[in-house]
Amino acid sequence: MSERVQIVEVGPRDGLQARKEPIATAARIGLVEHLRRAGAGRIEVGSFVSPKAVPRMADTAEVMAATGSRQRDGDMVLVANERGLDQAIEHGARSVAVFTAASDAFAEKNIGCTVAESLDRFRPLIEKAKDSGLFVRGYVSTITDCPYAGRIAPAPVADVSRALKEMGCGEISLGETLGKATPARIAAVVEAVAEHVPLAELAAHFHDTYGMGIANVAEALRLGIRTVDAAAGGLGGCPFAPGAAGNVATEDVLYLLQGDGYECDIAMEPLLDAVAFIEREMGIRPTSRVYKALRGG
Ligand code: HMG
Ligand code: MG
Repeated sequence: MSERVQIVEVGPRDGLQARKEPIATAARIGLVEHLRRAGAGRIEVGSFVSPKAVPRMADTAEVMAATGSRQRDGDMVLVANERGLDQAIEHGARSVAVFTAASDAFAEKNIGCTVAESLDRFRPLIEKAKDSGLFVRGYVSTITDCPYAGRIAPAPVADVSRALKEMGCGEISLGETLGKATPARIAAVVEAVAEHVPLAELAAHFHDTYGMGIANVAEALRLGIRTVDAAAGGLGGCPFAPGAAGNVATEDVLYLLQGDGYECDIAMEPLLDAVAFIEREMGIRPTSRVYKALRGG
C-alpha cells in the first residue's frame, strides 16, 4: 500500500494575507468552498490578528461562519495572542496555529517581540487552547533564511521547535519563509529538528521564490515528512517578509505526489477549478507550472 500524504491548504490565509488590493469576502468564501469540493481535509481559513497589521484577514469570522468552519477539526486559524485565541474559540475554531520564528529580527517585525518573548506569550495561550479542547499547531518561520538577519543555522530552529512541542503543540510547521533554500539545507534543518520532534509531527511549509519549492518538498518527503503545506495557484507571502513569493502550489505538490505514488485526499480536476476561480474571481494570475500545463493558463 502506498503512503498517505496530507496537504494543508493554506491559500485562504497565507495565500491572501499579503495582497495589496482588497479581496471580497464572497471570493474568500468561494475559495474555501472550492477547496472543500476538491477534497482538502485541512484548510487554513484565516487568522485572528491585528487588522491593522494584516487587513486582508479582518473578515475571517465571516468566512468561517459562511463555510461551515465551526467545529470542523480540519479547519485552522492563526492566532498571535490571547485576544486572537478568544476570538477563534468564540467563532468555533477547533484548530489554531501560533507562529514564531528562528530569528529575533523576523519575530520583532512579524509579531512585535523576540522569539523568547513569543514563547513566553504562547505558553499560557497554548495551555488555554488545549484546555478548551483545541488542536494547536506551531509555526517556526525563517528556518533557513531571514529577510533581516540573513542565513539561519539549524540549531535555533531545533530549539524553538522543541520548545513549542514541549508547550503542547501537536504539530510543528517548518516555514521556509523566503523560498531561498535548496534541498541540502532543508535536509540539514529537518534532521536537526527531527532529533526533538518526530517526523510524523512535522509539516513542510515552503515558499517558492527561487523555483526550489517542489525540490524542497520532494526532499522533505524523502526524509519522511508526510504533511505538506501548499496554496492553490501558488498564492502567498507574508507582509513582513519582503522579497518572498507565494507558497509552493498545491497542484504542483499534488502532481508530485500522484506521480510518485503517494495517496492524498485532494483530486486534481476540482483543485484546478479552484485555481481557475482564483484567476477569474480575484484577478490573481496563478504561478504554477501544473496549472499552465493542464489548463493552458
Ligand atoms: P503589538 O503592536 O506588539 O501589540 O502587535 P499590541 O497589543 O500593542 O496591539 C497592536 C494593535 O493591534 C492594537 O490596536 C490592538 O488592539 C490590536 P490599536 O490600539 O493600535 O488600535 N490587536 C488586535 N486586534 C484584533 N485582534 C487581535 C489583536 N491583537 C492586537 N488579536 C500583534 C502584536 C501580534 C498583535 C501584531 O503584530 C499582529 O497582529 N501581527 C500579525 C502578524 C501576522 O499575522 N503575520 C502573518 C502571518 S505569519 C506568516 O505568514 C508566516 C507563516 O506563513 C510561516 C512562514 O511562511 O514562515 C505562518
Ligand atoms: Mg508562509
